[in-house]
Amino acid sequence: MTITKLSSNENPFGPSPKAVDAAQLAIASANRYPERTDSKLCDALAAFHGRGLTGEQFFSANSGVEVLSLVEDALIQPGQRAIICPPCFGEYSKSLLSKGCEIDKVPLIEPGFRLDTNSILRKVAKNTALLYLCNPNNPTGTWFGGNVLSGVLDKIPENVTVIYDEVYYQFATEEGLPDAIRHVLDDRNIVIVHSFSKAYGLAGMRIGYGIAPQRIARKVQNRKRNFHLNTAGMEAAMAAWRI
Ligand SMILES: Cc1ncc(COP(=O)(O)O)c(C=O)c1O
Repeated sequence: MTITKLSSNENPFGPSPKAVDAAQLAIASANRYPERTDSKLCDALAAFHGRGLTGEQFFSANSGVEVLSLVEDALIQPGQRAIICPPCFGEYSKSLLSKGCEIDKVPLIEPGFRLDTNSILRKVAKNTALLYLCNPNNPTGTWFGGNVLSGVLDKIPENVTVIYDEVYYQFATEEGLPDAIRHVLDDRNIVIVHSFSKAYGLAGMRIGYGIAPQRIARKVQNRKRNFHLNTAGMEAAMAAWRI
């Protein structure tokens, strides 16, 4: 019997051979430190996404989960509140609780696990710092359109940053997923979360990145230590989208 492991939503096809070659080449020089910062990777990501984005609007991390954690470290204090919309990725509450943050839950509603935007807006308190939205959502596989995200961003108070987790966006077959990058270009309070674990088949390399207005990306970058990402991971990531 052939078993296809999908429990963590990894890519069953494996990584690109170009990513494997790049990682192997990097390992041959593993006696050397990686680049001190991730500026090369961030510039490459900006060039990949285009639309006038620059490397200063990106920050990398050792996985999408670490993107979440770095954003939390930069944008929420212990005792402040975050809103999540269950059923959602379990790491949101795990990470927030470990940092002493308070969680408000606004469950998705029937029919179709829809985002309850009115209840989200009602839930926002003076000390709410973060709102987590996942689109397409894990574990429901449901999604919402551009007007929903724009509506939330238009109405949410200035003290709240939206963590817009779209690590599964490459798998969406429907038209109408939000153009989240437009909101970064418009300098809204948003951090987009991407990962190389899913579509690019590099879960074991632990590479993720955030896209955010420069003022937010800089806050996150300032908290990172030097030599944060390993060379093999960065090289594999940059090779992964070469066709
Ligand atoms: C919704 C969601 N966000 C983020 C991640 C983080 O992925 P990784 O840490 O592998 O980059 C996952 C992984 O399962 C996920 O399902």
